[in-house]
Amino acid sequence: PTLDKLLDQMMTQFEQLNKNYEKGHGERLYEHLRGRVKSEASMEGKCKRKDLPLTPQSALRANRDSVGLRVVCNFIDDIYTCIDFIKQWDNVNVYQEKDYITNAKTNGYRSYHMIFDVTVPDEDVDGNIPGHYFVEVQLRTIAMDTWASLEHEMKYKHKIKNPEMIGEELKRVADELASCDVSMQTIRQLIREED
Ligand code: GTP
Ligand code: MG
Repeated sequence: PTLDKLLDQMMTQFEQLNKNYEKGHGERLYEHLRGRVKSEASMEGKCKRKDLPLTPQSALRANRDSVGLRVVCNFIDDIYTCIDFIKQWDNVNVYQEKDYITNAKTNGYRSYHMIFDVTVPDEDVDGNIPGHYFVEVQLRTIAMDTWASLEHEMKYKHKIKNPEMIGEELKRVADELASCDVSMQTIRQLIREED
């Protein structure tokens, strides 16, 4: 229940940011937002894979993705603008960030990953009040998001006959999409300069 509340709160905080930004700039900062609390079964599976004991500490401290959000933007620029705003939030400390946009993974995966340390009024797993909870946030463009869902599907489908070839093809598409993201941003800039 606390995790659901935390997810709700974070979603609202992002939605509020988008609304305020739209008021000031006439366009949204992100296109859409998704969020989830990791299911108990999935958390248990992850702890087992990592050889962690099945305790609240493992689930909420050793693992930091019990609460996860995905912010899907139209343009790469918007991701970095979003990050600038996040870093001003008083209840959020950025515990970790990984820029898989500037440094794509070798398979072609791109996204900006952040782990938030969120301060909440409730008690946490260590007995602290106010408490601290980790939240995983992935920021990506629509193109990166499309690619990631297809690639994810490939990983979990066991029937793929030629994973090497498919992997190479996916990598090629990831790089093409990245180039399109840059072009789209350039086009937006050209349109803006016309006014
Ligand atoms: P975890 O133990 O899973 O937390 O890994 P990590 O701490 O090394 O985190 P990382 O930031 O690399 O990735 C965490 C999440 O990002 C995953 O659960 C996925 O949702 C997403 N992700 C990372 N790499 C890939 C990838 O190659 N393909 C896809 N589709 N998603 C990825
Ligand atoms: Mg993770």
